[in-house]
Amino acid sequence: MYVCICNEVTDREIKHATNKGACSMNDLRNSLNVATTCGRCADCAKGLLKEYLSSSPSSELSVA
Ligand code: FES
Repeated sequence: MYVCICNEVTDREIKHATNKGACSMNDLRNSLNVATTCGRCADCAKGLLKEYLSSSPSSELSVA
């Protein structure tokens, strides 16, 4: 599903980015440009980021 319409970012891309080490919205902005245009997707992207980090095996250091 598309999370960020402006930049055509999907939930899969966000999940992939977290698997590659993204652990903050800044990381997602830098790697995917999510929430860099209108910003309406920021809350959704943040929610997915938290969800994916909490289910990631390497999440112990990164959820804050
Ligand atoms: S929907 Fe993501 S920046 Fe507009």
